[in-house]
Amino acid sequence: MSNLTILALSGSLRKDSLNTRLLTAVTRLAPPELTFDVFGDLAAIPLFNEDDEHPAPSAVAQLRHRIRAADGVLIATPEYNAAMPGVLKNALDWLSRPVAEGPVLEHKPVAIIGASQGPLGTIRAQLNLRSVLHKMNADALGQPEFVLPHAHQALADGELPAGSPSPAILTAVVDGLVGLIEHRRALASLGR
Ligand SMILES: Cc1cc2nc3c(=O)[nH]c(=O)nc-3n(C[C@H](O)[C@H](O)[C@H](O)COP(=O)(O)O)c2cc1C
Repeated sequence: MSNLTILALSGSLRKDSLNTRLLTAVTRLAPPELTFDVFGDLAAIPLFNEDDEHPAPSAVAQLRHRIRAADGVLIATPEYNAAMPGVLKNALDWLSRPVAEGPVLEHKPVAIIGASQGPLGTIRAQLNLRSVLHKMNADALGQPEFVLPHAHQALADGELPAGSPSPAILTAVVDGLVGLIEHRRALASLGR
């Protein structure tokens, strides 16, 4: 595997976010060839307003730049009222807008994971996020899916519980994302 950079984005602003903890757990189990660029400035992304697009607010420009510089994106989404949180959707609305080089997530390999305190582990938020990424022509990983229900218990110590299937599934998600990146590179080398 060649060295790759993954932009990691947690959809939570919360200091003790379970989704941010989940991203940290992924960075610990991923192979050393992967560098994670954790974007921690979601709170600085203003509410989307078409009147404010030009020039783009600095936090938006920074996020666009870091996604463009990354080979792939990993998003950990919380679930709010059976959907992704508004702050994450707001960031995606900014990212969906055309810029000189094209929308930044178009054809970008993206993997989705999520942790929630409820019994469904963000499956509804992930479906919601997936449909928005589909509209944006992002290259979202279909399988495997990773949901972490009752995450306040599972991640109580900040680590995934030893012996749970979670690390193996997360490893498979990371492998799938790397596969998507390599597939995208092969297509690009063919001029597609
Ligand atoms: C406004 C709001 C709505 C929520 N709705 C859901 C929900 O639909 N499903 C669920 O499993 N948890 C729901 N929760 C609980 C979240 O799973 C929990 O707050 C979780 O810790 C949020 O992720 P974070 O720790 O990364 O911030 C909700 C929480 C809030 C604040």
